[in-house]
Amino acid sequence: MTVIIISGTPGTGKTELAKELAKQLKYKYIDINKVVDKNKLIESYDEEKDTNVVNEKKLVKALVKIIKEKKDLVIDSHLSHYIPSKHVDLCIITKCNLKTLKKRLEKKGYKSKKVRENLDAEIFDICLNEAMELKHKLLIMDTSKQNSKTLAKKIIYF
Ligand SMILES: Nc1ncnc2c1ncn2[C@@H]1O[C@H](COP(=O)(O)OP(=O)(O)O)[C@@H](O)[C@H]1O
Ligand SMILES: [Mg+2]
Repeated sequence: MTVIIISGTPGTGKTELAKELAKQLKYKYIDINKVVDKNKLIESYDEEKDTNVVNEKKLVKALVKIIKEKKDLVIDSHLSHYIPSKHVDLCIITKCNLKTLKKRLEKKGYKSKKVRENLDAEIFDICLNEAMELKHKLLIMDTSKQNSKTLAKKIIYF
């Protein structure tokens, strides 16, 4: 049983890569949004940040429960690195150059303030630093230069 998590700033290409990797490896793809909905984990709405606030503790609990079902998994979320490293075989952090990221976030329909906040998160490598602090085995993938098929192949050969 192998558990791969994919984290990174929104817009850096987690979902594309996670789906492609799950397809190539024939692992189960876990969409955290579905886990959040199913377990009703949205606690509130942060107007300032224009985003839903998820109960992270409960989310981690729900994910560990899924992991204990002992399947090969690819878990896709910018919160996935909060899963304790003892349950995770590999943590992939997606990164993207800032110009491309800005375009992608605007295309997603994010308001300019939210675009700015996510660009800041990418500049300060928030997800990467948190994942490092939590002692995950890390692999960093830049999604601004290669498509997800090529990146997934690289991960498999890694
Ligand atoms: N490797 C890549 N090469 C080119 N475009 C990509 C790549 N990965 C993602 N994208 C594009 O970037 C946007 C954001 O990707 P997405 O996977 O939704 O990011 P996230 O899940 O991290 O928010 C999408 O429009 C997607 O098609
Ligand atoms: Mg996504």
